[in-house]
Amino acid sequence: MPIEQTLSMIKPDGVARGLIGDVIGRFEKHGLKIRAMKMLHLSLEQARAFYAVHKERPFFDSLTTFMSSGPIVAMILEGNNAIQVNRDLMGATDYRKAAPGTIRGDFAQQTGRNIIHGSDSPESAKREIELFRAQGKL
Ligand code: RTP
Ligand code: MG
Repeated sequence: MPIEQTLSMIKPDGVARGLIGDVIGRFEKHGLKIRAMKMLHLSLEQARAFYAVHKERPFFDSLTTFMSSGPIVAMILEGNNAIQVNRDLMGATDYRKAAPGTIRGDFAQQTGRNIIHGSDSPESAKREIELFRAQGKL
């Protein structure tokens, strides 16, 4: 199993609902090390740059408005197979399909308010970590 790094964000709904401790506890219990962490408030422009891969999608404006609507907690997580381990802990994008025991399965009530972001591939992990590092945010 490769040691990997991945980018996680507790989204504005997760912060507002008081779920930071629960989410971080899950990462630590499952062997993901927190290598960097910061609470910050993305501008709309930064949220649009982060999610640029989705810029043609119908949900792009609502997603980026939401992601810039309040503070988030950004983290670099590291561990064996960290990208997939993190996605497994998050659960499915669609809250109705997210299994109980996952972060989204336990807490999300809307697909557009699904608590947590995680990089979905080695390429996006590299890009997303570099984006935060380049802006001096992590
Ligand atoms: P994320 O990037 O935030 O970790 O979420 P994800 O990989 O599970 O899902 P992705 O396809 O990257 O979509 C990003 C976020 O956009 C919202 N979304 N809404 N059909 C829809 O209404 C729809 N599809 C996606 C979700 O909030 C999703 O997390
Ligand atoms: Mg995604």
